[in-house]
Amino acid sequence: MKGKWIPVVGAVALGLSLSFGGDVAMAKEKYKEIVNVSHRGASGLAPEHTLVAYKMGEKMHGDYIEVDLQMTKDGHLIAMHDERVDRTTDGTGLVKDMTLEEIKELDAGTWFNETYTQYANPNFEDLQVPTLEEVFQTFGKNKSYYIETKSPDVYPGMEEELLRLVNEYRIDKDKLLVQSFSKESLIKMNELDPTVKLVQLLSYRANAEISKEDINEIKEYAIGVGPNHTYLTEEYVQTIVSSGLELHPYTVNEKERMKQLIDWGVTGMFTNFPNLLHEVKKGK
Ligand code: G3P
Ligand code: CA
Repeated sequence: MKGKWIPVVGAVALGLSLSFGGDVAMAKEKYKEIVNVSHRGASGLAPEHTLVAYKMGEKMHGDYIEVDLQMTKDGHLIAMHDERVDRTTDGTGLVKDMTLEEIKELDAGTWFNETYTQYANPNFEDLQVPTLEEVFQTFGKNKSYYIETKSPDVYPGMEEELLRLVNEYRIDKDKLLVQSFSKESLIKMNELDPTVKLVQLLSYRANAEISKEDINEIKEYAIGVGPNHTYLTEEYVQTIVSSGLELHPYTVNEKERMKQLIDWGVTGMFTNFPNLLHEVKKGK
């Protein structure tokens, strides 16, 4: 009788181990597929929105370069997060009141050395603010870009100019994502070119929930959402992901939080440290 149990127990153990092995393999696959977005470039380690920070992000295995857009007085799209130049350059004033020539005179790197002394590097001094055109010229048409229309109400025509450059530089639209907090800006992009994939950014809201109606509305024009990671719960993540939307929270800079969000089901994330997310994806 005892002998009969041996194959049964063996089979159960083998089944459990195969199933466990399958789960591990699936988890590893899931980690590998997480989209790693270099937020403003590798901006934890180099001055944000400079070509140096974007190159560093690429080297650190960031899949996408994230580019925030502002527009100069003479209509050039530049890579900058704030409407004012004050925080990230040695200048002062609003981008909308400055020409590209004036923007190009600014030093976009020294502030970083002074603020983040542990990462300071003499090569960061005197870096210029890049135009979107220069970003495309530097990284080419096959790079994955994650471009945000910032303050579109301040810059009428920024969506048209973005599309003009995307088309002029023959940017691969399969690898392009355009994001915005402004639903109007995304809907405008969708009307101008329905082949461009869009992501709706969502600002911080304490105890936030998202309704089926909200999700269905977003799905009419966007393929995903980008919420602030600090208000996410597993339930919120599951609600969004099970609807078929991509979910790329911002801005996640700690490995434990990265792992938690991946385990909850996010499909990618923005990080100032693409090197850390790369390690997490590798199971380190
Ligand atoms: O685009 C995702 C995230 O960058 C949104 O916040 O303020 O860093 O542009 P912000
Ligand atoms: Ca952004």
